Amino acid sequence: MRAVVYDTYGPPDVLRLEEVEKPVPGDDEVLIKVHATTVNRTDCGVRSASPFIVRFFTGLRRPKQRILGMELAGEVEAVGTAVAEFEVGDEVFGVNGHGAHAELVCMRESDPLAHKPAGMTFEQAAAVCDGASLALACLRDTDLRQGRSILIYGASGSVGTAGVQLAKHFGADVTAVCNTKNLELVDSLGADRVIDYTREDFTKNGERYDVIFDAVGKHSFRRCRRSLKPGGIYVETDLGFMWHVPVLALVTRRLGDKRVILGITNYTKKDVLFLKDLIEAGRYRAVIDRTYPLEEVVEATRYVEIEQKTGNVVLTVSR
Ligand SMILES: NC(=O)c1ccc[n+]([C@@H]2O[C@H](COP(=O)([O-])OP(=O)(O)OC[C@H]3O[C@@H](n4cnc5c(N)ncnc54)[C@H](OP(=O)(O)O)[C@@H]3O)[C@@H](O)[C@H]2O)c1
Repeated sequence: MRAVVYDTYGPPDVLRLEEVEKPVPGDDEVLIKVHATTVNRTDCGVRSASPFIVRFFTGLRRPKQRILGMELAGEVEAVGTAVAEFEVGDEVFGVNGHGAHAELVCMRESDPLAHKPAGMTFEQAAAVCDGASLALACLRDTDLRQGRSILIYGASGSVGTAGVQLAKHFGADVTAVCNTKNLELVDSLGADRVIDYTREDFTKNGERYDVIFDAVGKHSFRRCRRSLKPGGIYVETDLGFMWHVPVLALVTRRLGDKRVILGITNYTKKDVLFLKDLIEAGRYRAVIDRTYPLEEVVEATRYVEIEQKTGNVVLTVSR
C-alpha cells in the first residue's frame, strides 16, 4: 500500500510517499481503508520532535513509527475473528496514535473508533476527533453549565472551533475571541458574542468570566487573571514558556482563589461516541480550512505549521 513515511525527525520535507507492507489485523482489530485523514499540530510536533521530550515517547534517535496521522475516516476492509462491533464495509471514523497517513491502517475494536455519523462525508468525519477531544479534556473540570460564562481565546483553530460548540452544548454563555477574518465563522458556531482581538483587548473591557480557555496557547494567566471572577478557572492547551503552565497548575491548586488547568488529551471511544451523537443531533460540525490529496502532505504540513489554519486541514486518500 502507499503511505507517507519519515525516517528522521526534521522539517516537513522529511515526509515522502512510499510503497510499504499492508498491515494485517489481529484477532481484536479491524483493517480500515482510509478515505480521509488530517494533518494536525500533534503530527507536526511528533515529526519535528518538538519539544525534545517528545523523543522519549516516539524514539530517542529516530522515529519508532514511520507513518504519522492520527485522525481518520474510512471503510472497514477486514475484521479479526474476535471483532463483534464492526463488519466489512462499515463506514467508520476515529483517532489512532499513528498510521493514518496511509491507504490502510489497523485499529483495535476497543480503540477510539465508531461508525461514521450519518450524513457526514469522510473528509468532515476525519476532522472531528482531535480538536474536540482536547477541547473536551480542557472543559471537563470547569463545571460548564447554564449560568456559567466562558471566554474562548483562539476560537478559530481546531481546538477553538470545537471548544465554542461544546461549551454551548454544555449550556454556558460563550464569548469567543478571534481575528477579523474569522468573526462570521465563529459566530455561526453559536458563540453568544465574538470579540475581534485586532480591535478590542478583552482583558481591558471590564468583563469577567467564570472560565477563560486559551485554545491556542497564545495568552497567559498573568494577563487574564483580572478578567476571571473570584474562583475562576484559566484553562491552557500548551506547556507555555519554560513549561510554566504545569507549575502554575500545581501552585494554584493550593494558593489563591483562581485556578490554572492544563488540558491533556486522552482519546477515548466514549468521547468519539459522544461526538457522533452530537453530530447526528445537529449540534456539532468539524470546520475544514483546506483539503489536500495525500500526495501533497508536505504542502499541507507547511500550511499547518504557520499556525493560522481555520479549524482543520484534511488529506484525502485514494487508491
Ligand atoms: N495538550 C495537548 O495534548 C495538545 C495536543 C495538540 C495540540 N495542543 C495545543 O493546542 C493548541 C491549539 O491547537 P490547534 O490545532 O487548535 O491550533 P491551530 O488550529 O493551529 O490554531 C490556529 C488558529 O489560531 C489562531 N491564532 C494564531 N495566532 C494567534 C494569536 N496570537 N492570538 C489569537 N489567535 C491566534 C488563528 O486564528 P486567527 O486568524 O483568528 O488569529 C488560527 O485560526 C496549540 O497551542 C497546540 O500546541 C495541545
